[in-house]
Amino acid sequence: MDEKQQKLSLKREVGLIGAVSLIAGTMIGSGIFMSPQTVISSVGSSGASLVVWASCGLLVILVSFCYAELGTVIQESGGEYIYILRTSGPVMAFMLAFSSILFVRPAGVAGISLSFAQYVVAPFYPECPPPVSVVKCVAAAAVLVLATVNCMNVRFSMSVQVFFMVAKVVALGVIVVGGAVMLAKGNTESFQNSFENSNVGINPIGVALYQGLWSYDGWNNLNYVTEELKRPEVNLPRALVIAISLVTGLYLLVNVSYLTVMTPKELMSSTAVAVTWGNKVLGSWGWIMSLAAALSAFGSLNGTFFSGGRVCFVAAREGHMPDILSMAHVHRLTPSPALIFTTVISLVVLIPGDFQSIVNYFSFTAWFFYAVTLSGLIYLKIKKPELPRPYSVPIVLPILILLVAIFLVLAPIIDQPQIEYLYVALFILSGAIVYVPFIHFKLCPGMFDKVTTFLQLFLEVAPAEKNL
Ligand code: ARG
Repeated sequence: MDEKQQKLSLKREVGLIGAVSLIAGTMIGSGIFMSPQTVISSVGSSGASLVVWASCGLLVILVSFCYAELGTVIQESGGEYIYILRTSGPVMAFMLAFSSILFVRPAGVAGISLSFAQYVVAPFYPECPPPVSVVKCVAAAAVLVLATVNCMNVRFSMSVQVFFMVAKVVALGVIVVGGAVMLAKGNTESFQNSFENSNVGINPIGVALYQGLWSYDGWNNLNYVTEELKRPEVNLPRALVIAISLVTGLYLLVNVSYLTVMTPKELMSSTAVAVTWGNKVLGSWGWIMSLAAALSAFGSLNGTFFSGGRVCFVAAREGHMPDILSMAHVHRLTPSPALIFTTVISLVVLIPGDFQSIVNYFSFTAWFFYAVTLSGLIYLKIKKPELPRPYSVPIVLPILILLVAIFLVLAPIIDQPQIEYLYVALFILSGAIVYVPFIHFKLCPGMFDKVTTFLQLFLEVAPAEKNL
């Protein structure tokens, strides 16, 4: 049994296609079907809104170059957590794990599942908004189904990911082609004087960027599973570039298409932009867009799960979370305890959560930790230039993006202080308070022993090794 335990590790099952779909398939989710109206309402004009979408894409492409370097220098799974642990040390890393496991990931899962549910139930309530409880139950059901799939088999959840990515690229393709046809017919009204009425305050731009960046979030997903990726030094940078350029191109064209079919005013007042688009261009087939939006969210949810469980898993392996969370199923080789834990918390967040606020707090916290991660990269470049680097970016790049990230985190607080951001900041800091007694001083060391043994037998899991 001992020998078997030692050999247990997650397999390298993810190839280039899987990798691209893990990134693109998570990025394309709820955002492109929910956020275009919020972006244009806050910046005020079609031109400014396209600039926001393009800037988000550019920012994400540049930051992903930095992550390609990080992921090839530190080839362990766990994304920001492991990079911060190796550069800024355990306290910061624990704070990330704590916020990520208890808030960011579950919030991501809850947000996407809510938009999935919204689009699924919409056709059944044509006259009125669907009851909140129905939406939440459908969202919870989606979370449970995907949690089960991810616990069963890595390969199967990868197939789900690839299938849904293809489906949503096709759906966005339909929107692009439909828009191109309308554009060719001379619908260019929205693009005349396209910067008229723009709002260029810090706050409107900040809100628009948060919404846009939510739609692009998931670009870092592959860095969570480096140990499961075949030939990471080649496939990680390649998959990042392919996936992010694909998504950026699609998002821009889709926004052009929305604006071709609707005037900026119509876009601002539409509640489900893809459905309005569908009704205008596809007529009685308009409901297809509702289906496409639901499928898109479902695929993104799967990707979020796939990588979300991994943070928990890696943090537990480093002794930052209870042992049980670092174990993998003895036959299926999936990190089921970590997945189950993420599911439970996601369901809890789902109860009070609503989409808009989830997006804002999500982006705020996420960009705070991206900033910490980037400073880690700068540190590595200065202090450890001798490390082997299959892939390296010029140091100005992380410095530049670090400045942008700092702006993103501070702008909404300085311009329009809201008490909620203070709560989120306190929550992130409370990680450090938990760290000192429980991790540093190891108070109550055997606290979880009995539960661990019980759960280990019950879930048929055993400690998993690093896969390097
Ligand atoms: N971009 C996705 C969407 O538009 C949200 C991704 C949430 N983040 C994540 N890391 N899974 O729905």
